[in-house]
Amino acid sequence: SLCVCVYLGAVVGRGARVSAADLAWPERAPKSVDADYGQDYGEETPEPEPEPERSTSPRFAYVTERTPQADPRLADVFISVKTSGQFHDTRLRPILDTWFPLASQQTWFFTDVDDDALQQRTNGHVINTNCSSSHRRDALCCKMAVEYDVFMDSGKKWFCHFDDDNYVNTARLGELLAGFSPRQDWYLGKNSIRTPLQIIDRAISGDRVSFWFGTGGAGFCISRALALKMSPFASGGRFMRVGDKIRLPDDVTMGYIIEHLVKTRLTVVDEFHSHLEQMKFIRPAELSQQISFSYSKYADEMNVVDVDILDQEQDPTRFYSLHCLLHPKASFCPR
Ligand SMILES: *[C@@H]1O[C@H](CO)[C@@H](O)[C@H](O)[C@H]1NC(C)=O
Repeated sequence: SLCVCVYLGAVVGRGARVSAADLAWPERAPKSVDADYGQDYGEETPEPEPEPERSTSPRFAYVTERTPQADPRLADVFISVKTSGQFHDTRLRPILDTWFPLASQQTWFFTDVDDDALQQRTNGHVINTNCSSSHRRDALCCKMAVEYDVFMDSGKKWFCHFDDDNYVNTARLGELLAGFSPRQDWYLGKNSIRTPLQIIDRAISGDRVSFWFGTGGAGFCISRALALKMSPFASGGRFMRVGDKIRLPDDVTMGYIIEHLVKTRLTVVDEFHSHLEQMKFIRPAELSQQISFSYSKYADEMNVVDVDILDQEQDPTRFYSLHCLLHPKASFCPR
């Protein structure tokens, strides 16, 4: 009962910056749609591949060095990483070996199976959402609903969501959040489309509704003050019901609730990066300033950060090399 249309107006205002990276990479984010996303949304955005295979993972897997000091600025932050059982042994490995130890107290993995080994490895920071393991819209909204509820119960001041193909530069994330008050309404993220998404809500009023949303694959953060205002639309599984009603995936539903229902605008943070961008266009000299990174494969081309410290065979995602750039003393980095 709802039509999703492209907003045809000029791209103006509010951080709708088009970077070289945006232009060069095929846009696979929601756009140009004149029909419902329907239940099958997500099948048109194939999973990034190949996954970091077990066989090509670095030999130093599951690094057990002295846990580095976590950034004190992250103490009030709740970090969720959305994953799925099929990716525990592949996508989570580079995360567990690199940035997770820097934020192990506040990072939780939201998945869809029980995994004792992972539970042990993360000191009990795995939550089986009991959601479906598919990449369908409703399964994605189901996990986001649980993430939101667990954050609310945590009492933390910031909710930051990432995907299991993100590297998070914890120091820069802490720096970013230190610049905003969690007692004010903040929705920090990165848009992946150049215009606001416009939908016609025939079910309710027939009005056109246009809003921005932070791409889930780049990561986004929400202050507790804003999360509290979202509660009537998001708590206790209501997030899923909104997603069902507007038939849009999790990150778009988040944008709809925050921008349209709660009337808080997305603040664009350019330092968040999803695999919809070309990673190699982030200048090497600027890598350390960025907050999140990702990777993917498009046709035969690997879309990875341009940093070449460790062997490509051992480090196909480049997350270990990136980590060595940011934390040269990590045990697996060349001396
Ligand atoms: C998932 O199901 C198990 C078993 O019924 C339950 O103990 C657990 O609380 C559920 N998890 C969530 C996040 O609801």
